[in-house]
This record gives sequence, C-alpha cells and structure tokens, in this order.
Amino acid sequence: MARHHNRRRNPYAKPDALTQAARAAGFTARSVFKLEQIDQRVRLLRQGQRVLDLGAAPGSWSAYAAKRIGPAGQLVAIDLKPLKQVLPDTCQVIIGDAFDGALLETGPMGELAPYSVVLSDMAPNTTGDKATDQIRSHQLFMRALELATNLLEPGGSFVGKLFMGGDFGKARDALRARFTTARTIRPKAVRAVSYEIYLVGLSLKDQSVPAS
Ligand SMILES: C[S@@+](CC[C@H](N)C(=O)[O-])C[C@H]1O[C@@H](n2cnc3c(N)ncnc32)[C@H](O)[C@@H]1O
Repeated sequence: MARHHNRRRNPYAKPDALTQAARAAGFTARSVFKLEQIDQRVRLLRQGQRVLDLGAAPGSWSAYAAKRIGPAGQLVAIDLKPLKQVLPDTCQVIIGDAFDGALLETGPMGELAPYSVVLSDMAPNTTGDKATDQIRSHQLFMRALELATNLLEPGGSFVGKLFMGGDFGKARDALRARFTTARTIRPKAVRAVSYEIYLVGLSLKDQSVPAS
C-alpha cells in the first residue's frame, strides 16, 4: 500500500507538461528549458560559437545549443552514455568520460579548443543520501570548472550544475576567481523537489595574470 502511495507521488514517474512540451518541440528531455532560461537570462549563446557540452545525454542541451550557434558554429558533446537526440552535422559526439585526458590528446574535444562556451549538466549517480550526493556533485562541478578554465578562450563562458549544499560558497568563490561575472541561476524549469542550481561564469579572466 505504502509503495503504491510513493509511486503516485513520485514527480519523475510520468511525463509532466514540460516533458511533453519538450517532446513536441523535438527535444529528448525537459532539461532543454533550463538551458533556454539560462540563455535568455545571460545571453549565453550566439551564432558561430564553439561549444563543449559535458554530460550531454540524452542530448537536449546539445540540440538547443546547436540551433543557437547555427551552421557556422561547432559543438562537441560528450557523455558516458550514447545520446538519443539526433544532432546536426555541426556536432560531434564522444562517448566517454569527460575527464579522460586521452580524449583531449586525440579527437574533436581537444582539436576544437579553445571554446566560446563550456556547458556542464553533469550529474553524479545519486545514492539517495543527500549529503553524499551533494559532495559528489560538488566534486563534479569543481572538476568541470577546472576543465572549462583550461579549454575556454579568454572571455568565454561556463555553465555548471550543482546540488545546493554546504559547499556552495566554495564553488561560487572558485567561479568568481576565474570569471569577471558570476551568476547563480535556478531556472523555473527545475523541478520543485530538486535542489539543483546552475552557476554561470561570464567572461573568463586572463589566466596568465595571478588572481588578486
Ligand atoms: C542530467 S544528464 C544531462 C542532460 C542533458 N543536459 C540533456 O539536456 O539531455 C547528466 C549526464 O551527465 C553524464 N555524466 C556524469 N558524469 C560524467 C562524466 N564524468 N563524463 C561524461 N558524462 C558524465 C551522465 O551520464 C548523464 O547522462
């Protein structure tokens, strides 16, 4: 009885209005609206940009970004799992670990750098234990930030997902140290029960100048 009750209340159990709207617009996941809202807030994506999408599966962020950067832009999508979304020819997909250094040595991830924008919607496998999930999410965010700092052009932008927790201040400070503008955005499309937020860094500082 109790199990049945829980299933009825699970907000992830059946497609909600945003999931249906995403599918109707040709996107595989409702998370497309999170990137759209971030893009509208900070004017992130423009025609002709080079974009790296970390943790891209099933592929709705990549599809949205590919549309925004247009035929003159280029995008590299990477995920541990294959993407479900069909992407235009301007996109290259890598199945692998975003932090596998070998992928930078050979192949499109390193070849296309430096990027105008690095996106990370990467999420750890959740355990159900909030504290553990927050720590893992923080570690993933910090690694993504480090990778973005190395692969972005000066003036480039970064979007990274984070589960809100005790380490949030450290993540925001690390972002502020690297980018001229740091924003914290919780798009309306994030489910009410979720504690995820996005940290957005605009205009990467010149990394050869020591931070003051
Ligand atoms: C929330 S999903 C991304 C959804 C995607 N933005 C979209 O709109 O379709 C998070 C993804 O991060 C991926 N991921 C987690 N750690 C990763 C890693 N080290 N390298 C590559 N992908 C990773 C997972 O496999 C998962 O597909």
